[in-house]
Amino acid sequence: MPKLFEPTEINGMALKNRFVRSATWEGMASDDGDCTPRLVETIARLAEGGVGLIITGHAYVNKQGQAGQWQLGIYEDSLIPGLREMTDAVHQRGSRIIAQLAHSGLFADPSLTGYPPLAPSAISGITQHSVQEMTISDIRNVVESFGLAAQRAQKSGFDGVQLHVAHGYLLSQFLSPFFNKRSDRYGGNIENRAIIHLEILDAVRSYVGKDYPVLIKMNTKDFIEGGLELEDAVKAGKLLAQNRLDAIELSGGTGLSGKLNPIRTGIRKQADEAYFEDAAVLFKEHINIPIILVGGIRSFEVARRIVNSGIADYISMSRPFIREPDLVNRWKSGDRSKSACHSDSRCFVPTRTGKGIYCVMEERERKKDGTI
Ligand SMILES: Cc1cc2nc3c(=O)[nH]c(=O)nc-3n(C[C@H](O)[C@H](O)[C@H](O)COP(=O)(O)O)c2cc1C
Repeated sequence: MPKLFEPTEINGMALKNRFVRSATWEGMASDDGDCTPRLVETIARLAEGGVGLIITGHAYVNKQGQAGQWQLGIYEDSLIPGLREMTDAVHQRGSRIIAQLAHSGLFADPSLTGYPPLAPSAISGITQHSVQEMTISDIRNVVESFGLAAQRAQKSGFDGVQLHVAHGYLLSQFLSPFFNKRSDRYGGNIENRAIIHLEILDAVRSYVGKDYPVLIKMNTKDFIEGGLELEDAVKAGKLLAQNRLDAIELSGGTGLSGKLNPIRTGIRKQADEAYFEDAAVLFKEHINIPIILVGGIRSFEVARRIVNSGIADYISMSRPFIREPDLVNRWKSGDRSKSACHSDSRCFVPTRTGKGIYCVMEERERKKDGTI
């Protein structure tokens, strides 16, 4: 059996294969961030399709951290029953699910949150909103919000949590010298820029205990001038790994990185796939906890090579599962042709406009065929 289909475990969380659905904002939660039956159904299909570990879309840990409409929330206890529906549906189908905990910082949308966006530093001109530099008390509140959100995740039946430290959102902003210009202990060298993450890990552990899987998704590089570079990213990853972190998912880029954003388009040949592979090699050299690789992986051969050669321990994908929720089962059954995803990111359009996520290309193809 290919190593990709071997069972493994991450801090006691038993996984039936090495495939992960990377966090994906589906645009299907209610206006208050409550989990809806439609979202449960979408997640259940992924579990039915054989994905070993599903990561929810980024869920805001407090109201001020909300990035977008119809985003999942995990900011108060009243959301637990809806989230429980989601975790039950996944467990009944034999998969695992963890909650991605997020705060969007500078990219929060004040028209939704009712607050000005908070960020490590009040840098202007990035969005049209004026940004507030976080005070020490704001930092404490955010740390506590992550801890409480992790506790809610545990109470909702999630198998673990993942802290969103990627793509230019709040915890990625702290790691990045482009966003973080602070002169106090939370700014300066990478050890300082990673203090908030260590504090959040401590807070999360104090609520969920040491036996609960806690993961992060982080940038290997921001791909913006003056942003986080690979060497510092590895240092931060190492620091966190030494502080009771259970696995790291590697991504990169921000919304300001042009073509080198986290969700790259135009992946046509195998050489375009796995666009953070080189970074994973360096992380593996220095870091001793499981590495999950995301970004443009489309073919079974590439996934197999990455895992067999030890570049990463898990293969994570987002867009391929929008197109084919049953991709893992298809590959397992012996049909190993590459994902049908066109990597055009058109799936953002229905997500952003309230229709909920689906593959736009597939819909077009089916209309042409007359199947719909
Ligand atoms: C519609 C959409 C929503 C996304 N939402 C999130 C998210 O909530 N959190 C996150 O960490 N990444 C998010 N991503 C990024 C993906 O998890 C992944 O890192 C990226 O799409 C590259 O992987 P892929 O080539 O397999 O799609 C999103 C991507 C898409 C297409």
